[in-house]
Amino acid sequence: MADAIFEDPRLAAVYDALDPDRSDLEVYVALVADELGARSVLDIGCGTGTFAIMLADRGLSVVGVDPARASVDVARGKPGADRVEWHVGTADALPPMRVDVATMTANVAQVFVDDAAWGAVLAAAYERLRPGGMLVLEARRPERRAWLEWTPEATRQLVDVPHEGPVEDWVEVTAADATADGGAIVTFVSPTVFHRDGHRIDSTSTLRFRPRKSIERSLLERGFDVVEVRDAPDRPGREWVYVARRP
Ligand SMILES: C[S@@+](CC[C@H](N)C(=O)[O-])C[C@H]1O[C@@H](n2cnc3c(N)ncnc32)[C@H](O)[C@@H]1O
Repeated sequence: MADAIFEDPRLAAVYDALDPDRSDLEVYVALVADELGARSVLDIGCGTGTFAIMLADRGLSVVGVDPARASVDVARGKPGADRVEWHVGTADALPPMRVDVATMTANVAQVFVDDAAWGAVLAAAYERLRPGGMLVLEARRPERRAWLEWTPEATRQLVDVPHEGPVEDWVEVTAADATADGGAIVTFVSPTVFHRDGHRIDSTSTLRFRPRKSIERSLLERGFDVVEVRDAPDRPGREWVYVARRP
């Protein structure tokens, strides 16, 4: 079960409006389509489908998968969505395929808190890549402790959403625990208030901040070669972008 923020239909419907600046994804389109020259892509944790549709618009063959049905329903309703193959579920339940590139954008990699789930999604990506295919993922750097900035004061916003009216949301961290590998597990609540009718939905999320050495090790353990770890061009110093190859 994904978090309410992705799974609840009313929250999924306002997700894009509350986070409209997706210039972060242009970096990944350039990496996947231009630099790696992919013709086929599996987007794991596709959410409301923005990235999958951007790739399909470039003529790539795209499969998007996410366990949050409400988010995938939003994706299916977007212009260009008919050019993407959508799946509700986890990557390990996908049918066999041989794609050039698998992606996990917008810190999808951090939703896998326990090591078994993390290993399972890496294995699922590996199995669905062609030999020589690439896995591209991003993850926040734990040493930057981004969660210290996730306060109600710093994050509160009020957005006028078409068909919904004013919608307010903010973030509040409820726990941040260090892990033995030098990373952290952070839990936060993100309330959303629909001013039109006063309805409030609290979504709770937990993210794992794995250090670079842990992510590199888990990629190697799953059979990947780590080709490159680069600074995220849109968030320099805050995130790493991992590019790993299935030999
Ligand atoms: C921060 S959103 C990013 C969505 C999308 N990649 C984007 O760039 O907008 C994280 C996504 O991970 C999804 N997710 C949660 N658990 C997952 C799992 N086990 N496998 C794949 N995706 C998962 C959530 O449903 C959500 O859509």
